[in-house]
Amino acid sequence: MATIPPRTLPASWYTSKPLYQLERRAVFLKSWYLLGPIIKFAPGTSVDYEFAGVHLTVNAAPPTDPSDQPHTPSITVLDSTTGTPLRHHTTTTGLIFTAISPLAPSFHTFFPNLEATLSAVDFTARPHRRSISYSGHFNWKTMIDGYQECLHCQYTHPAFSLLYPPTFYAVKNHHNWCQHYADAARPDDGLFLYFLPNCTLNVYGGGMSLFRVCPTEEPGRTRMEFDYYNVVEGEAFEEYYKFVRQVADEDFELCETVQGNLERGIYAEGVLNSVKENGVAYYQQRVLEMVLEQHQEDRQQARTRGAEGAATSTLAVEHAPARHGNSIPNRAIVEASA
Ligand SMILES: [Fe+2]
Repeated sequence: MATIPPRTLPASWYTSKPLYQLERRAVFLKSWYLLGPIIKFAPGTSVDYEFAGVHLTVNAAPPTDPSDQPHTPSITVLDSTTGTPLRHHTTTTGLIFTAISPLAPSFHTFFPNLEATLSAVDFTARPHRRSISYSGHFNWKTMIDGYQECLHCQYTHPAFSLLYPPTFYAVKNHHNWCQHYADAARPDDGLFLYFLPNCTLNVYGGGMSLFRVCPTEEPGRTRMEFDYYNVVEGEAFEEYYKFVRQVADEDFELCETVQGNLERGIYAEGVLNSVKENGVAYYQQRVLEMVLEQHQEDRQQARTRGAEGAATSTLAVEHAPARHGNSIPNRAIVEASA
């Protein structure tokens, strides 16, 4: 029997405001986020973040003892609006992750077995050199779709492809995180990790970059945030920066074009290559599962309240696509409390 290829999420999921509100509760409030290596947070300073409308502040306590290691401050993460402490986790090799709501499971439940992979790299070895943030005209998933495959690399990233030929490119999916292999024969050259829903970690070209694809209330607008780390500075850093920014700019242009086509209705939904786009299929499947779980939770709560059918507004989550290996009906119309 022929294998049924995985299908994409429908285009409406990239343009719908109600769908984003559902994603916000289903995915974003229940996830963990990579903030950066601990060296980003200098003792006595604070750094602000925003994920899906939750504003948070990372505070690095000033050293209480002059002999304290300068790079190991005591970290607290607070919801800046309510002042409520948020859970965070520092990995053995110095990466800090945070949850943004009590709805997220534990770090190890959300990212099982991640620490073993992270333990191979000392993420505190490269100083923070530069951060950059800007807005893009695309949905957050438009950018993650591109990150999760390399079929576009050869024509979109000619310089990157010379260094990391896509011939050998492969993605291995884990639970809520994915590892990309530019070349299985050179496993130490290039570490590319995706963390559901919107964070990435990229060690290549001699440096390290993190980026966050931050959704906004407008489903077609996203704030891109990049942090760059490198041992070198001055001209050598600028050379690295130029190289990695070129890759980012090429992706940006591609995403704006794709989003324009999504919004013009050129594309509705399609099939994915089960080998070359397995990373896209995996993360989209997780988004779909989490959205449908949220929908079930909402229905259950409505039943408990005896208010089923009396919701003030309903949302048609259109065209939930069929996925091979699960029981989600093809093009199901799901109604959920908005
Ligand atoms: Fe790309």
